[in-house]
Amino acid sequence: MASRMFPSRDDRIQPAEAPPVALTIDGQRVSGLRGQTIAGVLLASGRLSWRTTSAGATPRGVFCGIGVCFDCIVTVNGDRDVRACQRRADDGDVILTQYDDLPGHDDQPQHDELTRRDELPGAAS
Ligand code: FES
Repeated sequence: MASRMFPSRDDRIQPAEAPPVALTIDGQRVSGLRGQTIAGVLLASGRLSWRTTSAGATPRGVFCGIGVCFDCIVTVNGDRDVRACQRRADDGDVILTQYDDLPGHDDQPQHDELTRRDELPGAAS
């Protein structure tokens, strides 16, 4: 063990345990810890995607995780195009998944088509 590594019980800073936060995504309640990003809360809840691309209608979630790709955008409390990997989850946040149809197309998928970890082939249930 390196000299700077020690068990958390010996940490002199003794960080306080993060309080819980509860939010909803498309009406489904999910919970996390204060300080987590919205993407972190969604990933921890087992959801891998929460947006559908306009071209091809394929599911998207976190890709870069650092605010560059915009694959993770959601609507948060009525504000569209919020990067879930950059916004910290706040208690009571209302998250809506996003899909913007291309002009002249009517192939908008239903939200239940979005992929959840437990629905992937081979996923343990
Ligand atoms: S995952 Fe790339 S901007 Fe959020």
